[in-house]
Amino acid sequence: MIYKIALLPGDGIGPEVMAQVRRLIAHMEKSGDIRFEVWEDVIGGAAIDAYGAPLADDTLETCRSAGTVLMGAVGGPKWDKVEYSIRPEAGLLRLRKELDLFANLRPAIVFDALIDASTLKPEVVRGLDILIVRELTGGVYFGQPRGIEDLGGGERRGVNTQVYTTMEIRRVGRVAFDMARLRSGRVTSAEKANVMESGKLWREDITALHAAEYADVALSHMYADNCAMQLLRNPRQFDVIVTDNLFGDILSDEAAMLTGSLGMLPSASLGAADEKGRRMALYEPVHGSAPDIAGQDKANPLAAILSFAMALRYSFDRGDLADRVEDAVRAVLSAGIRTADIMADGCRCVGTQAMGDAVIEALATNEARASYDSTRTAKK
Ligand code: IPM
Ligand code: MG
Repeated sequence: MIYKIALLPGDGIGPEVMAQVRRLIAHMEKSGDIRFEVWEDVIGGAAIDAYGAPLADDTLETCRSAGTVLMGAVGGPKWDKVEYSIRPEAGLLRLRKELDLFANLRPAIVFDALIDASTLKPEVVRGLDILIVRELTGGVYFGQPRGIEDLGGGERRGVNTQVYTTMEIRRVGRVAFDMARLRSGRVTSAEKANVMESGKLWREDITALHAAEYADVALSHMYADNCAMQLLRNPRQFDVIVTDNLFGDILSDEAAMLTGSLGMLPSASLGAADEKGRRMALYEPVHGSAPDIAGQDKANPLAAILSFAMALRYSFDRGDLADRVEDAVRAVLSAGIRTADIMADGCRCVGTQAMGDAVIEALATNEARASYDSTRTAKK
């Protein structure tokens, strides 16, 4: 079995963190029976510079045929002045839209070793494990009409449109309920049904879907602003949160920060399942391109590495290998090895490359131990 994967390092720290993923892939190929077919291309500002557009048609087709995409990050001050439709971010939005990746899974998990990295009290966040399911291809990010209109006399008018259909709400709702069944069985749906028609429809459609197909899951509704507040007050009340594109953007950053370590969080964006149950998928760290530290060997590669682990789990059905990568990350953190963003007293601060080394070393140590244990068991 050869697993196909397209890598899009992107801008800022993207290439540095993705280089560590490439090294991890090379290590896994060398030490096991797993084989990858890897394509690499540019996206975002790097694509603007190379091809004049933030996502070239050829790149999109490569991603489509690979079926599994791993992206670093996009954007940076260099391209801040260009028009929205050709900004680096537009490349990512086009990729999500063209591959119809409507369900964005953003886990927020507090690692025990990093509990002090959170700005919240340890007793509030210990053991935190939330999954935000964000709708990703609709809502105000894509609704028409949009634009900036010149009204004359120095007056202008900026317009974006929040719009959702029943189909869009139900399909992301289904992913959230399915995920809840694999977890603690609770879904909180967040919108602003008190002020927005699209929110009222969201609540009605989620309620109907729940009654028809998911009565075994506990469903509650929350206004998005209250949800933002509850996330800080008592985050452990949540299991799965399902919400629209814009609220999901905001709430997932907030949830990520509860963990104190944006540099640790992976995400997956999934399309609809085909007849064989396979989904088109894009994996990416939740963090951005961090231009201020780009190229300095300071970035934390763990979110990219954990995104790759999600790809192993969800796209390649190799939960066994995903577990090993996640265990290696946990081992590195327990050993007190940290990048600057998660540095704590008594720990050793390392750069991007050295963090990559540490993960590969932990993986190799665990592999060696596992094979030693299995020879011993075989001899007994
Ligand atoms: C995210 C980012 C993107 C978004 C940007 C880079 C377009 O903030 O993935 O959360 O707003 O969706
Ligand atoms: Mg965001």
